[in-house]
Amino acid sequence: MELFDKSKIEKEIEELPSGILTILLEAALSTNINSISIVGGVVRDLIAKSKNQDYDIIFNDLDLIIEGEPSKFIEELQNIIGPERVKVTRNNSNYKTSEIMINGIRIDIATARKETYPIPGENPIVESSTIKNDLIRRDFNINAMAIDLKDNRLIDLFSGLDAIENMKIDFLHESSVLDDPTRIIRASRYSAKLDFNLSIQAIRQIEDTINAWPWKWHIGDNTDLAPSALSIRLRMELELLFKGKYWKNALKNLQNWGGLKIVDSQLQNDQKLIEKILIAKKSKIEPLTALVYESKNPIYLAKRLHLSKQQIEIIEGAYRLKIYLEDVIANHIYKNWPPSKWTIFLEKINANESSFILEICKESPLKEYLKSWLYKWKYIESPIKGEDLIAKGWKPGPEIGIEIKRLRMKLIDEEIIL
Ligand code: CTP
Repeated sequence: MELFDKSKIEKEIEELPSGILTILLEAALSTNINSISIVGGVVRDLIAKSKNQDYDIIFNDLDLIIEGEPSKFIEELQNIIGPERVKVTRNNSNYKTSEIMINGIRIDIATARKETYPIPGENPIVESSTIKNDLIRRDFNINAMAIDLKDNRLIDLFSGLDAIENMKIDFLHESSVLDDPTRIIRASRYSAKLDFNLSIQAIRQIEDTINAWPWKWHIGDNTDLAPSALSIRLRMELELLFKGKYWKNALKNLQNWGGLKIVDSQLQNDQKLIEKILIAKKSKIEPLTALVYESKNPIYLAKRLHLSKQQIEIIEGAYRLKIYLEDVIANHIYKNWPPSKWTIFLEKINANESSFILEICKESPLKEYLKSWLYKWKYIESPIKGEDLIAKGWKPGPEIGIEIKRLRMKLIDEEIIL
């Protein structure tokens, strides 16, 4: 098929320098590498573009699978085009993967491999294998195709071409979600990005796997015991989901399929989830932080997903704020509080600005007070500084601090910004 011709591919993906695919093949042939293929998103996108000219190919990198050693292949590539034109940016000799840069283009080279998952959700055991087995280990029919550079041929073991034609995503086998539950999040992302549907049997596989919960660790168990490989990959997939402009549809998909249960059951059932994340995002809160804060036990989930220290701090601050506010509401003590009392109360909690925004987005019944402090009272300073008081004859000491605070609070109650 003409579409899989090297020069045609280079024309379609304008980032690729003309002739590069022939050079890559040459390097493979002269190192006795049997098979060299393009795999992954580029193959899917080339086909999608051939069906719909409006489709935008967003090129990130070129993924190559070889039946051979990346190091020998890269050495030969350096011999052919010169060592200065091939920069090795990453190399993992255990997994036999390398990343190189040629003319500013990132090329990932990996030895074809077979994967087995002895423990569901944990990292797989990997062994060198054939391109065929490398495709079998993948996530979806639309992502499991390869273009063989030797004979310009599409390798399509799972009817990926038809899947793109029919706009229907499917897993490759019945244990796909069991092997790697993060595929649920990936499915929602591809489905939203490409505007494809997930097949009925794939949705059933998601439901059945989550309902049977075949993993040793259960949500609610100690986070220290949560399989960290799975938790980290879940977080990375959620981050990728929020990077795309189609994240709202991806989240909708997850809720429709019952897939958010894998993260948290409250998120799965929250009909206003997208709206709340949108508000938080507009206030410059990272959507993943906002998502986690809407869960049943946000601090627990933040730790389980291994969020950053800063994200955990924001969530802990918001949670602290929530607990204090619940106490205030329960005791009906706030009704006659002047702004100064609110200011003293809220500043004592020592939560950062993003924590306040999270609580406001969560529709706290006291959100008007939080907003007033965050956007108004917080910025009101004392009209007189320490040095002014000293110039007026005050003796240096703690009284000066008390007086400055008194004057600031007075001004806050008068709500006059100088
Ligand atoms: N892959 C997989 N399972 C994963 C991650 C990746 O099977 N958990 C495979 C898929 O075949 C995927 C390829 O590795 O197409 C490359 O993955 P990645 O670079 O994440 O995505 P792309 O599909 O290349 O492209 P996009 O950036 O559009 O997601």
